[in-house]
Amino acid sequence: MSKAIVVYYSRTGNTKKMAVRIAAALKESGLSADLKNVEETAPADLLLYDLIVIGSPVYYGTMAWPVKKLLDESVKHHGKLKGKIGGAFASSGNLAGGNETAVLDILKSLLIHGMIVQGDHQGDHYGPAAVGKPDDRALRSCDQYAAKLAALTNRLFP
Ligand SMILES: Cc1cc2nc3c(=O)[nH]c(=O)nc-3n(C[C@H](O)[C@H](O)[C@H](O)COP(=O)(O)O)c2cc1C
Repeated sequence: MSKAIVVYYSRTGNTKKMAVRIAAALKESGLSADLKNVEETAPADLLLYDLIVIGSPVYYGTMAWPVKKLLDESVKHHGKLKGKIGGAFASSGNLAGGNETAVLDILKSLLIHGMIVQGDHQGDHYGPAAVGKPDDRALRSCDQYAAKLAALTNRLFP
């Protein structure tokens, strides 16, 4: 069974709701999926998974610093994440408040690790985005994103 982890930071619960939804949808697609707060995630934990999905609230247009801290500390495993699949999602306070820039900043780090990321030609192109409390549209986006990532993971890591 392919192994996934959904890592998130959330102070007021919005990003956590998305993380819970993505982890549940990954499980529905047949993956084992762990759900972890970023503060209880060590860089070495990332080595254990085929798929790593990272979520953050938007802070000043980018990821929150605890997420950046994990990614910066993951340098000690540089090269060991290559070929794994990655994804990202974000929650902002405002429409056009930086969800896409935050998601792309996370994805850039994953690409620099040599990981594989998948876009979406229909929905949230770079990864699920919510404005405030995730509404039905945002939660559906989480479901669809998780299903796509799971299909890719099951194909590459059967
Ligand atoms: C330090 C800080 C910076 C923020 N910067 C932005 C921002 O640049 N753009 C935006 O739309 N919202 C911004 N917000 C609002 C959060 O992104 C938003 O409330 C988010 O949904 C919180 O997610 P959470 O409930 O998972 O903590 C900021 C909030 C904080 C505390």
